Amino acid sequence: MDAPDLQIPRIEGSFDPSLPIEQGRTIPARWYTDPEIFRAERDCVFGATWVIIGRSEQVAEPRQYLTAHVAGFPVLVVRDEGGELRGFFNVCRHRAAPVLTEESGTATKLRCRYHGWTYDLTGRLRGTPEFEGVCDFSREDHGLIPIEVAIWGPLVAARFRGSGATFEQHLSPMPERIATAISDLTFVKRQVYDLACNWKIYVDNYLDGGYHVNTVHPELAGMLDYSQYRTETFDTTSVQTSPLTTDRSAIRHGFAQYWFVFPNFMLNLYDGLMDTNLVLPLGVNRCRVVFDFYFSHSGPASEEEFQRRSIETAHRIQQEDMTICEEVQSGLASGIFDTGRFSVKREAAGYHFHRLLAAALTCRRTLSGRRFPQKM
Ligand code: FES
Ligand SMILES: [Fe+2]
Repeated sequence: MDAPDLQIPRIEGSFDPSLPIEQGRTIPARWYTDPEIFRAERDCVFGATWVIIGRSEQVAEPRQYLTAHVAGFPVLVVRDEGGELRGFFNVCRHRAAPVLTEESGTATKLRCRYHGWTYDLTGRLRGTPEFEGVCDFSREDHGLIPIEVAIWGPLVAARFRGSGATFEQHLSPMPERIATAISDLTFVKRQVYDLACNWKIYVDNYLDGGYHVNTVHPELAGMLDYSQYRTETFDTTSVQTSPLTTDRSAIRHGFAQYWFVFPNFMLNLYDGLMDTNLVLPLGVNRCRVVFDFYFSHSGPASEEEFQRRSIETAHRIQQEDMTICEEVQSGLASGIFDTGRFSVKREAAGYHFHRLLAAALTCRRTLSGRRFPQKM
């Protein structure tokens, strides 16, 4: 029996995830422009699954911390004095100021810069200046709100609500497929791009199986051997792979792997180098893409000139992607377009993403108006 159309409450348009790709349609245009869908994504997608928030080398030692913003959730991760990794919402219990404001650093205590409340590295409230005489108040009840955090390889992730798969299971089968290839890579540089488009347009663009490469990225087209481009989909990940041409002057060599981890993370791996892309929604028609570049300790990729050229190449490709993504946002917001069809040959990973998204959004039905976060 066919599954019923998935109807998101109060949102026009439907998506039928039961159809094979030959008959399937994309999610409706309104899902890229409607603030109600954006709120549903915050609750049911970003609020309810593993999201990658930083690099493990940022919190390798006791007292190191990192902060992040994911779909409006401010978070901090810190390694406490005993070496345990801890995550919290980065929201002070006094007036909701951020407790930590730097992207990463070292701290012996967490001191809110607004009125100076201090928390220890386990999140307990320790200092409350000039707070004598307040009735029914205990510091024990006003610690930072904890969140689940986990590390795999170079990645730190958080989960704000929900249970089930471990972070490593969520990444499967990427860990076993790339562990050896990334073992000698080191983080070198971060670049951040702000785009005037919904976050899903950037993800769709990544997941079209190389469909846009010849048209949008002529420079990249020469590096990939298209006849052997492949796409595989898994529970919450997909991978597109391609051998690279053997041009010795090329900046990327060997075999390219383009991994996607639902909902918003990409990992691009070549011989001796890798970049990761984290797509952060900033609003219904704005997003930020954070690129982290990693290079090998040895071989050509360890040389500064190689690294500079490689990052420049990625920057040029990113400019091309940004332009087309922002143009697509205009088209989706025009009211002219509702849904589109998929290339069976190229776009399996894109349809897989839409199915995962639609499945996650069904949680909106069960939340029945409760505000996030629920009581912990
Ligand atoms: S908001 Fe943090 S001390 Fe007032
Ligand atoms: Fe692209």
